[in-house]
Amino acid sequence: MTMKRSRYSLAVLISGSGSNLQAIIDASVEGRLPAEIGVVISNEPTAFGLERAKRAGIESRVLDHRSYPDRRSYDADLGDLVESFTPDLVVLAGFMRILSPEFIQRFTGRMLNIHPSLLPKYRGLHTHRRVLEAGDSEHGASVHFVTEELDGGPLILQARVPVKPGDDAETLAARVLSREHIIYPQVIRWMAEGRLVMGDKGAFLDGRLLEDPVDLADLELAGR
Ligand code: GRF
Repeated sequence: MTMKRSRYSLAVLISGSGSNLQAIIDASVEGRLPAEIGVVISNEPTAFGLERAKRAGIESRVLDHRSYPDRRSYDADLGDLVESFTPDLVVLAGFMRILSPEFIQRFTGRMLNIHPSLLPKYRGLHTHRRVLEAGDSEHGASVHFVTEELDGGPLILQARVPVKPGDDAETLAARVLSREHIIYPQVIRWMAEGRLVMGDKGAFLDGRLLEDPVDLADLELAGR
């Protein structure tokens, strides 16, 4: 007899510190998120996020990309590994690898990413440095559905932070991260509650197409 799983289940993919993973663990443990993490998968054997998973009693796996000849074969095994846990949602939380179209197609509409910029500005790497170099007065983070376009899938929720005089990439990154830890659990909660779906035209929240991403400041004003 198979047991029916009652909670919405997540596979969280990481490569590093895993502070976003921690925010999701905390939200789940504290009852703010009706979801559980079924597995944490890292491509980096030394990622600190693996330690966070262990401390929380969450299963984890390492799939080291260095043991594979190419992206295609790695992504095929990664996809099989993820699917073996039958997650409802795949959560990219600082997973620092570009995913192949084949992988993305397997999880389209049920895979999220968080990116440290106000997308569509600053796709790709080194966003904090680039924001400082451009002299922007505002920066932030975005959660979006993953599509084949790198950092280009439908936007869901953004948080803005000011760039302050004297900021360097580190102080700015810390300010952005503190917001990431709010917006990622919030979006996962919408998914778990069945309120958020990806359609042909973009992200739909409560049946309404998000022409623009939701702004965290508006949510806070509205009491969510
Ligand atoms: C975050 O800034 C996230 O936006 C980016 O990678 C970083 C991961 O940080 N994709 P952490 O591992 O969650 O602490």
